[in-house]
Order: sequence, then structure tokens, then C-alpha cells
Amino acid sequence: MRFILALFLVGSAYGFEIVGPMVQFHEHAAHKATVTWLTQVGNNIPTFTTTNAQVRHTRNAEFGDLVYYITQVHLDELPTGKRCDFQLAVGDIKRAYSFRVPPMDQPDNISFVIGGDMGPGDQARSLLIEAKKLNPDFAVIGGDISYAHGNIGQAQPKVWVMWLNLWAETMTSEQGEITPLLVAIGNHEVDGGYRRSKEEAKYFYQLFHFPDNEAYYVADIGDYLSFIMLDTWHISHPKDQVEFLKGALIREKDVPYLIPVYHFPAYGILKGGYDAWQAKTIRKYWTPLFEDSQVRVIFENDHHIYKRSKPIYQDKVNKEKGIYYLGDGAWGRLRPLKKEQWESLWYVENAAPLLHFMHVVITKEKPLSVKVIDPQGTVYESIQIELKK
Ligand SMILES: [Fe+2]
Repeated sequence: MRFILALFLVGSAYGFEIVGPMVQFHEHAAHKATVTWLTQVGNNIPTFTTTNAQVRHTRNAEFGDLVYYITQVHLDELPTGKRCDFQLAVGDIKRAYSFRVPPMDQPDNISFVIGGDMGPGDQARSLLIEAKKLNPDFAVIGGDISYAHGNIGQAQPKVWVMWLNLWAETMTSEQGEITPLLVAIGNHEVDGGYRRSKEEAKYFYQLFHFPDNEAYYVADIGDYLSFIMLDTWHISHPKDQVEFLKGALIREKDVPYLIPVYHFPAYGILKGGYDAWQAKTIRKYWTPLFEDSQVRVIFENDHHIYKRSKPIYQDKVNKEKGIYYLGDGAWGRLRPLKKEQWESLWYVENAAPLLHFMHVVITKEKPLSVKVIDPQGTVYESIQIELKK
């Protein structure tokens, strides 16, 4: 069965290459999703059918260097709390897929895998295989997804193709069940990394759909869990996201699990660490707003290590009111780290040069559970985080 699936994913079943599909959550995961795939130019684009959702809009466009077309199917009226089934077909060749749609009310158990700084390599593959074994409801990548950078040269779209092939191969089960994905923007999505224009990240904005075409947005999973995805000045200045963030925090004030995700860490260790200009900017514009809200945990990325902060409130350790900052982006990319680089930092509880992703489980009665998982599937450490009182 795995062999047949692999054939399908690389398109041999059609006689040409199909890359994907992937399922992206972006606004209201209980109601809406986008299904995206690439088709080599010169071939028939597969037709999409579903029996239990509405196709609101389908978009076909040239992707990158004109070797591929991108197709995005925007779905709404998803079967909330159930499985959404769909099919891709070229002539008589058909393939069935599905994905799980979260319920609106908090279920007994919902889980996701989260991390960043992935790329299309073998280290990412090992971690993705372990992530899929956990059967998460969805995944979150906090930037530096493919390492395609921006739009320089002809090679860059091909890196997205390599990554999407890897994602689809590893995050689609033998039965065709796809793990949906939420994404934030990172510096390696952008030609130049920081303070750039959307045109300098055009493949990222082409491949992923965002509300209002901005990579800072709120993604509601249901009434119990929402993500605030932010842009650490790759395109948008953190100051320019403040009004959005204030509005989001007011709208989401009754959501018990409200989780910000962004790329560059406010409380990092490497690349300038606490004094990095990106970190200072985040702490100036966003951190006080998070501290005034119910936010208890934030996922950060970029540094290619594992880091767990102490609970921090107003730049001091505070067990009652503090926020835990977890990261820092090693879902395929790794940097060396010595203990002397972090053990004297007041805000760091633990850190390690560790390839990992995190598996987060939310249940009704227990605290939020985070397990840090390495490429062999071994749990490096487990964390329990209580909601703010
Ligand atoms: Fe990065």
C-alpha cells in the first residue's frame, strides 16, 4: 500500500508529477480549509470533488519558473468535528483523501505537533515520520518551512516542490488521511530575510492562503483553542501588527487556550539572544499585550536548538503570571549549543542542541501537556502548563 501511495504522490499513476496535496487551516478550522497541490505544466490538472464540504473557490496559477501550476481549492461548510473526504482525479485515475475537521466545542482530547525551521532534508523527514505516528489533529510550522528563500533565481520554487513532496509523503497516511497545517512566516521565506516586501516572498504567499493576504492572523481551531500567528518583521513591522493584536486579544478573551506563534524568539539564546534587535522589538510591542491576556505559552523558532524559558512576566521570573516561551526551531535544522552559552541566563530553564518537534495535547481536565520529541521518537522532556488563574 505504501508503494502504491508513493507512486501516486510522485505522480507516476498519472504519468506526470503531482506535488501534494496539502491541507491548510487558516481562519476557522472547524469551517474552512484550503487544499493545495502543484501539477507539472503541460498536463491535465486533476479535478477535485468532495461530498461533504462546499467548494467556495478554485484558483489555478503559474507557480514559480513555469514548470508547475498551483491549484488551491478553498473549502467552507466543512463537516465540523468529522472527517472531510475529497478526491483528485485525472480521467479514470482517482485517489481518495481525507482530513479531520476539529469540533467547535472542546473535545476530550485534541493534539497538535509544532515546531519550525524544517527544510526538505532527511533530518526533517525523520521527525515528520515520528510526528505522523502520533496521529495529531493538525500541525503548526512557525516559519522557515522549506528554506526556499525568496525569489532569486530559478532554483527557489524547486525547493518548495521538494518540501511539499516531503510534507505530502510523510504527513499523508496509507489511507490518504492528511494532517492539516498552519504556518507562520520566517526569514527563509523571504529574499533578504527581514524588513522586505511581499514580492520578495512571493512563492510563500502563493503557496499558502491567508486571511486578508497577511501572514499575521488568528486561526481559531474551535471555541477552546486559537493561534495568533505573527510576523517578526520579515514583511510587517511588529509595531504595525499592534492594532491587529489588540483586536485579536479582545475578540479571543474567552478562549482558554490562546497561543501565539512567531519566528524570531523574544527570549532567545543565539543570534544576539536577549539583545537581538528583533527580540527587543517583539518585547517592546507585543510582550506586554500577551502578559495582560490569558496567554500562558508562546512558541518561538529560528535558532535551531531546543529552549524552554522560565515563566516570565514583566521581564522577571514569575510563577503565577509568567509566560513560558518554548522553541527554538529545530524541526530539521540544528546548531551547536554549549551549556555555558545559556546556563547563566536568568530567563532560560533548559536548552539543548536537539533536533525536535513538540507534541501538544489539550484535554478538558488536565493542564496543557507538551512533549519534546527527537528524530528517534524519544521523549526528551515533558512539560505541563496550567492555564492562568
Ligand atoms: Fe529563521
